[in-house]
Amino acid sequence: MSTPRYSLDGRVALITGASSGIGAHLAHLFGAAGAKVMLGARRTDRTEGVAEAIRAAGGQAHALALDVTDEASIIAAYDEAESTFGTIDTIIANAGLSKAGRSTDLPVSDIQTLTDTNFIGAYLTAREGAKRLIASGSKDTGNGRIVLVGSITSFAHANGDAAYAALKAGLAHLGRNFAREWVRQGINVNTIHPGYIDTEINADWMHTDAGQAMVNSFHRRRLTSIDALNDPMLFFSSDASAQITGAELIIDDGQWL
Ligand code: NAI
Repeated sequence: MSTPRYSLDGRVALITGASSGIGAHLAHLFGAAGAKVMLGARRTDRTEGVAEAIRAAGGQAHALALDVTDEASIIAAYDEAESTFGTIDTIIANAGLSKAGRSTDLPVSDIQTLTDTNFIGAYLTAREGAKRLIASGSKDTGNGRIVLVGSITSFAHANGDAAYAALKAGLAHLGRNFAREWVRQGINVNTIHPGYIDTEINADWMHTDAGQAMVNSFHRRRLTSIDALNDPMLFFSSDASAQITGAELIIDDGQWL
């Protein structure tokens, strides 16, 4: 990995959904940038492996059992993180899933699972972090950073993913509201909206003829590179973004235009 553009030295970061895809990628990146990285996920066999690789590369990392749909699990994860590395000051609410299907067919249970994970899960992750940051004196240090992982489907029609898209749009608005609520508490809340990236969330579909047709319909005929997230994610997590809160950034290689 090349030298990260922004330093996260001294920061303690929690990344949810760190067992695969964007979360695992960011864990490596943040470890290389100097953060103490807490990897939160249900599949701890996987996060243990990622944490071990970060440590082998000279970083600091710890794997936590975390189910973002369960508030008790979130509180327990923050407790464990605090006793391991201290107060978490950098939170990446990344855990998410997809339940695709026509809106006329999608079972209520799938809509509920999407809501519990992609919206309530991110809500609870962010607010637990905010509570602890406020208690630790973030008002004076100004060191709180929360990044919500949205989606370009917040803006564009998402064929077969209406509930997912609407919840991501809601998440971005939640971010604006959290930013306002905590603006005097030294906590910045920003949302990054990635374009389509090849990860487990969409791999089954992306490699079908329909998936490839979608990629070919993009102006640049390609998926967004996961590395395109690196500098913006580091920026919003670092001291460099001290005066940026309530912002949104689309990183999609122009896919939604
Ligand atoms: P992924 O499927 O590899 O990662 C999602 C992670 O969230 C998985 O590790 C999964 O186990 C975890 N997760 C799901 N439910 C959880 C729960 N209840 N508790 C804890 N962890 C849970 O897919 P990807 O792409 O890395 O997704 C990360 C985020 O990026 C998601 O929020 C997704 O909606 C978003 N996103 C992804 C895009 C893409 O094209 N890959 C595009 C735009 C946004």
